[in-house]
Order: sequence, then C-alpha cells, then structure tokens
Amino acid sequence: MQIVNMKTLSKHQLEQAAEILFLSLPDGWPTLEEARAEIKERLIPENTLLAAVENETVLGFGGILPSYGGNLAELHPLAVRSDTRGKGIGTALVHALEDAARQRGAFTLWMGADDEKEGGETSLANVDLFDDLPARLKDFQPGTHQSAFYLKLGYKIIGVMPDANGKGKPDIYLGKRLV
Ligand SMILES: CC(C)(COP(=O)(O)OP(=O)(O)OC[C@H]1O[C@@H](n2cnc3c(N)ncnc32)[C@H](O)[C@@H]1OP(=O)(O)O)[C@@H](O)C(=O)NCCC(=O)NCCS
Repeated sequence: MQIVNMKTLSKHQLEQAAEILFLSLPDGWPTLEEARAEIKERLIPENTLLAAVENETVLGFGGILPSYGGNLAELHPLAVRSDTRGKGIGTALVHALEDAARQRGAFTLWMGADDEKEGGETSLANVDLFDDLPARLKDFQPGTHQSAFYLKLGYKIIGVMPDANGKGKPDIYLGKRLV
C-alpha cells in the first residue's frame, strides 16, 4: 500500500474516493454527488489530501485544511473502505497527514467527531454538557464511536460542542500536539 497525494489520482480513482466517502459517512455526504463535490472543493493548494492506494485501487483517504490562520490543521474528512478497515490504513493516513500538517507549520492537528447517531454512542451523548463538563470529559467513554480510533492514536479531547447535531448530539473535538 502506498500513501499518495490525491492531486496525482486519476478520474477513476477520485470516483473511488467519492464512493468511499459517501458510503462511510452518509450523514455528512448523503449522495455520491455531494461526496464528489466535497473532494473537488477540497482539492486546492491550501489543503493536503492523501490517499491510501494498492494496485491502483483507493482504499481510503483523508485531508487536512488550515485553520486559525494556519496555526492549526483540521483533519477533514477521513474514511477507509469498509472491507479494508482494521488493517492499519486509517492509522497510516493519519500519521502521513500529521507529517503534512507539521511541514505546513501547524502546532496541532484536530478534528471534530460528531456523536450524531440515534441514541448516541459516547458518554457525552444525551447528557447535560452544561453540568460539570470537566468531570464528564474525565470519565469519557467512546463506546462504538470513531473517537476510540483517535484516542488510540494519542489524540485527546480538547472540547465539545453541545447539541451541534441536534439535541443531545454533540460534536467532540480531539487534538494532538505536533511540535
Ligand atoms: C475511523 C476509520 C477511518 C479507521 O480506519 P481503520 O483503517 O479501520 O483504522 P486502523 O485499522 O488503523 O485502526 C487503528 C486502531 O483503531 C481501532 N479502531 C478503528 N476504528 C474504530 C472505531 N470506529 N471504534 C473503535 N476502535 C476503532 C482499531 O480497532 C485499531 O485498534 P488496534 O490498534 O487495537 O488494533 C474507519 O473506521 C472509517 O473509515 N470509519 C468510517 C468513517 C469515519 O468514522 N471517519 C472518521 C470521521 S471523524
């Protein structure tokens, strides 16, 4: 498997990436069309988009966007093909994106991880986040949520936006210091 800059991908490979995005994160990109548009919009020199490719096939991809004037980099989006998950591809992409963010001079790589599924996945869903948030963060339980993946990679919860996705459905911010 190779990690390559998405600027070098063929039209066919960009279509594979759009399919991965649409199938992996349907809440964010409910149609293939919207996933295609997202990739097109993000493929600009200010951002870095990297793909994991094996035998010409895209297995996953992720991007970083400058935020807070370039002091930080935001990871957005990240998705691995469902049949190749759990094999280290997501980890390899995040590590390569950390290197790219470091090269761009960012102090921190961060991401928002929405806890938006019905019923909630983490211990921050469906609770009053205005009541003793520090204690809730200390006792954080990711459950089945993707924040477990980022915690394994050394990311820490650096914030939470209550009700960002509807009542009781927060956006959870995770970050890692790069320098
Ligand atoms: C999150 C995602 C990118 C991880 O990619 P991956 O290639 O499966 O990740 P890795 O194989 O590198 O996993 C690294 C570790 O994290 C764990 N992990 C991965 N996804 C996880 C999840 N959703 N919940 C809990 N643990 C997870 C793996 O089990 C592995 O643990 P191990 O080191 O103990 O074996 C992938 O599951 C995905 O595309 N999910 C759907 C889209 C998504 O949620 N994107 C993130 C939006 S913020």
